[in-house]
Amino acid sequence: MRVLVTGGAGFIGSHLVDRFHAEGFEVRVLDNLDPKVHPSGRPPQFPNDVEFIRGDVTDRETFRYALRDVDIVSHQAAYQDYMPDFSRFLAVNAVSTALLYELIVEERMKIRKVIVASSQAVYGEGQYACQQHGPFLPIPRSTEQLQRGEWEVTCPQCNQRATPTLLVEEHTNPYNQYAVSKLAQEKTALGLGWIHGIPTVALRYSITQGPRQSLFNHYSGICRIFVSRALTGDPLVIYEDGLQTRDFVHINDVVNANMLVLEKNAADTQAFNVGSGQPTSVIEYAQRVREKIGNDVELCIPGEYRSGDNRNSVSSIAKLRGLGWAPQRNLSDILDDFLNWVETIGGIPQQVRDAYSHMKEAGVVLAAGQ
Ligand SMILES: NC(=O)c1ccc[n+]([C@@H]2O[C@H](COP(=O)([O-])OP(=O)(O)OC[C@H]3O[C@@H](n4cnc5c(N)ncnc54)[C@H](O)[C@@H]3O)[C@@H](O)[C@H]2O)c1
Repeated sequence: MRVLVTGGAGFIGSHLVDRFHAEGFEVRVLDNLDPKVHPSGRPPQFPNDVEFIRGDVTDRETFRYALRDVDIVSHQAAYQDYMPDFSRFLAVNAVSTALLYELIVEERMKIRKVIVASSQAVYGEGQYACQQHGPFLPIPRSTEQLQRGEWEVTCPQCNQRATPTLLVEEHTNPYNQYAVSKLAQEKTALGLGWIHGIPTVALRYSITQGPRQSLFNHYSGICRIFVSRALTGDPLVIYEDGLQTRDFVHINDVVNANMLVLEKNAADTQAFNVGSGQPTSVIEYAQRVREKIGNDVELCIPGEYRSGDNRNSVSSIAKLRGLGWAPQRNLSDILDDFLNWVETIGGIPQQVRDAYSHMKEAGVVLAAGQ
């Protein structure tokens, strides 16, 4: 069995490479070593017999070459950032997926399974319930609301504070271009997979964390930023009021989810959440980082916010649990494993510490009341 892992030099991809290799698959990686993720331009240390192709998933002939004699495709490569280069998200994430199926059909390849990496981002601001008016899918909070420092999502009918519910697979509601591109990617994959008889599964990862997560990609923020600031004794800057909730999943659990849907035909043609199912507030996360590092670094809540951020994003994991998967690791394991890894690489390099001022300059971080 040969597996092609696109984006196999990245965080999730490289862990999948290791697992496929350990389980006896022949592994090929297609990765363009995007300089935002790999500023040194070097691929990670793969096991010896892993074949590495440096190339772009949007390049037809490169992708065709990478797909030869492949049984399984694990499509992890993606463009992800907070920066305003809107067209690139669709150009990389959606177009590469359409190209993948175009090539499979054109070459009449017998692919046993395609797994595409989707994202919890497809839910946008999520799913809420109003006590009086019932469930609804909110639009993002307005700039005016955020400028007033009013962080909670309210019901569009009565303007009362609404309660977030766990995100279930049926109701997607993306707004930012990364999220739109991820939904386009999974619709493309699941639709073309169904029509052309190519078993396909989309996995909507929540915030995935653990060893080897990119230290450079601004998108993969909270763990690296809080840990690096705590290690240097700098205050942990918390956006909004810190009570916004997120869902953190350990990389090993994400890898296990990939291996499970690879085996299970019952997963085909469907999208599944892969998360913890547990809300963690940003303040709680900062406190856990502080406890692990063992200092009393200050938590600073200056009333700033990041434009486009969701207030609450926590996935229901009932659907994937129904197939036999369950997360085995919690936030404490995530932080332990990340900190151990940071130690093995000699700490977080100086040049990556300042994502915060970079985002301020780019107008992504704003202050309420300005
Ligand atoms: N890490 C998370 O928290 C998270 C959450 C939800 C979804 N995802 C999805 O999981 C997948 C993997 O994410 P990750 O965290 O490992 O990201 P990453 O940035 O660490 O890895 C992505 C890899 O893809 C490569 N790549 C980017 N553009 C490419 C292109 N055009 N051609 C070939 N290779 C390209 C990069 O060089 C990198 O090695 C992505 O599809 C991402 O959207 C990740």
